[in-house]
Amino acid sequence: MDDFTLARAIHVIAVVAWIGGVYLVTTVILPSVSSLAAPEERIKAFEEIEGRFAWHARVATVAAGASGFYMLYVLGAWEWYLDIEYWWLHAMTLIWTLFTLVLFVLEPLFLHDWFRAQARQAPERTFRIVTRFHRILLTASLITVAGAVFGVHG
Ligand code: HEM
Repeated sequence: MDDFTLARAIHVIAVVAWIGGVYLVTTVILPSVSSLAAPEERIKAFEEIEGRFAWHARVATVAAGASGFYMLYVLGAWEWYLDIEYWWLHAMTLIWTLFTLVLFVLEPLFLHDWFRAQARQAPERTFRIVTRFHRILLTASLITVAGAVFGVHG
């Protein structure tokens, strides 16, 4: 197995673990928490569950980014960023940047405290925002996965 194939395998495993986790959170955990807990308890219950996934998501994000940039380097394909035909590469990089910002910058710096404060004032509204945010990210991620597979395999 050459370096490129190894990087591609790492990339796909990281994407499966990460986007699969987002899928489970969005389609199973959020609806369960929403039907089980009282409004003010929802964010707390959700944070406890998703907090356990956060480190998995961080490791997967680093692995997906490192393997993705390595593949671009091996392919010598940086100019793909200048060609709209490779929109799936732009989409992958955008999704990755969004998650990296949320997981490594916004969440530790202020998102966590901000959500706690919002959840105290308006629990139902805050939970709706969290749900919508996850649905949008999941949809964009799945479209990106499909676009990448079509883009890579023609
Ligand atoms: C900075 C972030 C990323 C970079 C630089 C990157 C780069 C790449 C590259 C260079 C390839 C292989 C292209 C080829 O073989 O010709 C690839 C494949 C792929 N990437 Fe990414 N990627 C990134 C993030 C993501 C994300 C966030 C997702 C999922 C939402 C994703 C999903 C995929 C998939 C499904 C493939 C196709 C694998 C295959 O069928 O062989 N990537 N990526």
